[in-house]
Amino acid sequence: MSSTAPVANRLEGRIALVTGGAGGQGLEHTRRLAQEGAMVHFADINAEVGAEAERTLKAEGLQVVFHQLDVSRIEQWQTLAAELEATVGHLDILVNNAGILADIHPAELSTEAAWEKTTNVNQKSIFLSFHTMIPLLKKSKHASVINTSSIFGLVGADGYLSYVASKGAVTLMTKSAAFSYGRFGIRVNSIHPGYIDTQMLRDEFAQLGEGAEEATLTTIPMGRLNATAEEISPAVAFLASDDASYISGAELLIDGGLLA
Ligand code: NAI
Repeated sequence: MSSTAPVANRLEGRIALVTGGAGGQGLEHTRRLAQEGAMVHFADINAEVGAEAERTLKAEGLQVVFHQLDVSRIEQWQTLAAELEATVGHLDILVNNAGILADIHPAELSTEAAWEKTTNVNQKSIFLSFHTMIPLLKKSKHASVINTSSIFGLVGADGYLSYVASKGAVTLMTKSAAFSYGRFGIRVNSIHPGYIDTQMLRDEFAQLGEGAEEATLTTIPMGRLNATAEEISPAVAFLASDDASYISGAELLIDGGLLA
């Protein structure tokens, strides 16, 4: 497994916000954007893990600030937007990474509560982020939004109805936003990870039971299942940067060829 070295100073002076930034892929996105020079505000529902991540990243010499945020709560987004407005005045990079896999069941065995939780965290959060952060992004000369969808935001999957619905929505909300905000210089793209080695994937295989991991492996052309979060973050940094200055409304698959 490999990942590329950060591009020195590519994001110098940029202000970024990463949701779900205390763990998994979000923590690596936070680290990578900061390594490339951005001041990264990272937000997560888990305050304890967030505070620990802030200490670790600062000890690495990175410019980061942790905020507690439940991405499904409008008033918390409003508070964060007001704080960013008062302290830094604008936003250059928004990474909507926070997401959950709350349920792996066919609809008849699932619950309304699982549907609503998935929809609120994975889908409504994207609306709330646009609702509160677009005014700050409009003040940037380099605005880029990266939404984390999934391979399951492009194709269906057995038992993943709520997750697929929410991630499919992320894919098309990204394209709609690319239409709406292109004229303000705001680029909006989605990334579509395959199977990434984080807590979410470990929980998923535990739920699916013995043999699931081996069975999934046979479907991946690159012959390995678990990409690391460090293999996703370079794509996020690229889309955030001026190297992607004419890329908007795009779907970037990072799946080892799974959907090829
Ligand atoms: P993870 O479970 O390891 O990390 C998710 C982070 O989001 C955690 O720090 C968690 O505390 C935070 N979070 C959860 N609910 C939140 C909320 N309501 N508000 C704010 N923060 C919240 O998961 P992972 O793998 O890092 O997932 C990141 C994104 O990538 C998610 O959107 C997920 O759906 C997506 N994804 C993951 C894949 C995988 O194989 N791990 C594959 C494709 C997409």
